[in-house]
Amino acid sequence: MESSIRDLTLAPSGQQKIDWVSAHMPVLNRLRAQFENEKPFAGKKIVICLHLEAKTAYLALTLQFGGAQVCVAASNPLSTQDDVVAALVQNGITAHAWYGASDEEYERHLHSALDFEPDLIIDDGGDLVATVHRERRELLNKICGGAEETTTGLLRLRAMDQAGELKFPMMAVNDAESKYLFDNRYGTGQSVWDGIMRTTNLVVAGKTVVVAGYGWCGKGVSLRAKGLGARVVITEVQPIRANEAWMDGFEVMPMAEAAKRGDFFITLTGNKDVIRREHFQAMKDGAILCNAGHFDVEINKTELTALSQNQRTIRHNIQAFELKNGKKIYLLAEGRLVNLAAGDGHPAEVMDMSFAIQTLSLKYLIENSGQLKNHVYRVTPEIDQQVARLRLESLGLSIDILTEEQEQYLRVWHE
Ligand code: ADE
Repeated sequence: MESSIRDLTLAPSGQQKIDWVSAHMPVLNRLRAQFENEKPFAGKKIVICLHLEAKTAYLALTLQFGGAQVCVAASNPLSTQDDVVAALVQNGITAHAWYGASDEEYERHLHSALDFEPDLIIDDGGDLVATVHRERRELLNKICGGAEETTTGLLRLRAMDQAGELKFPMMAVNDAESKYLFDNRYGTGQSVWDGIMRTTNLVVAGKTVVVAGYGWCGKGVSLRAKGLGARVVITEVQPIRANEAWMDGFEVMPMAEAAKRGDFFITLTGNKDVIRREHFQAMKDGAILCNAGHFDVEINKTELTALSQNQRTIRHNIQAFELKNGKKIYLLAEGRLVNLAAGDGHPAEVMDMSFAIQTLSLKYLIENSGQLKNHVYRVTPEIDQQVARLRLESLGLSIDILTEEQEQYLRVWHE
C-alpha cells in the first residue's frame, strides 16, 4: 500500500533516532526476541495511531518482527517527526502522516490508515476508534479489538461503552500500574520540563509554576518543578486530589488566584477552558503558558486571541500575544502537548514499559478473540506484573519471594 509522508530522503536521520532509543528499551527488546520466534501477530494487520516519534517507531517495528503488517498514522499533527516516519517506510511499514498536517489532512491520514483494513488497532486519545465508529462502520466486524494509551482516550471509550456504542473490545493500557505509575508520572514529569526548557532556555528556580490538574501527570510535573527549585501552585476541582497536593507540600488555590501569581502555567486536566479570558486578564506581564493534556482545548486560544491587539511567532514554538492592556503572554507549541510538540516525548526507558504493555495487550486480544465482549477491559495483572518483572530483570534488580507460610498467612483470615 502507498504511504503519504513528507520526504523519504529523511530516513537516515530517523533511523539513527530509532537505533538510539531501541538500545534503551530492554523490555521491548526481550519481547521482540520472543516474538521473532513465535510470530504471534502473523497474518494480522495492525494500525497504530500514536505520536510518531522514535519510540513509537520501535513499537511498530517490534510488532512487525512479530509477524504483523503495520500501518501508522499520527495522533497529533505537531508531534510527528518526518524523519522517523520516513525511516518506518524504508523498513516496510505503511505511513500516512506529516508534521504540521492541517485538520483536513489529519482526518484524511486517519482514513487512509483505515483503508489498510486492520484486525487490531492501537489508539492514543480515541480519534481512530471514534472515526471507525462514526464513519467507517464497514470495518467494525473485521477489527477484533484495540488498545488505548491515554487517560483522555479512555474517558471517551468508557462513555461509548456505557452508551452501548463500543463495537469491539478495547484494552485500557493507560490504567495498567506499570503504565501510569511510570509513564504518566515520571515520563510526563521529565518530558514536559524538557519541552519547556529547550524551547524557552529560561531558569525555573525561584519562579512560580502553576500546575492545573493533580492526576498522575500533574503529580510528576509538580514534583519535578519542585526539584528544579520552583514555587509550585496546584489548581484542582477534585477535593481529594487537592488535599493530596497540599500534603505533598504545594500551595492550592483556584485559577483566578493562581493566575495573578504564575510565571509558568501548565495544564494537564483533560478538560477544556481551564485557562480562559478572566485568567489571561489577571496574569503578570511575561507569563508563559503551555499544555500537556491530550487536546489543545485546555488553554482557550480563541479568547486569548480576542483579548490581544497583536500576536506573532517570536521563536520556534513560542507565540507572543500582546494584550490590549499592554501585557505580553507567551504560548508554547500552540497549546498542543508541549512535551511532544516541543520535545521528543517521554524518555525511552519509560515508553519501553508502556509499549511492552501495548504489545502484550494485542497478543491477549488475539489469544482471547471471540471470548471478549465489546467493552473496555483492564490489562490483566499477569501482563502488568510481567512487564514490571522484565524491567527489574533489565535493571539487574531482584526482589524477595513469599515463603509458603507467608502466602498461607495472606490467604486466611483467622491467623
Ligand atoms: N511517545 C509516544 N507516545 C507518547 C505519549 N503518549 N506520551 C509521551 N511520549 C510519547
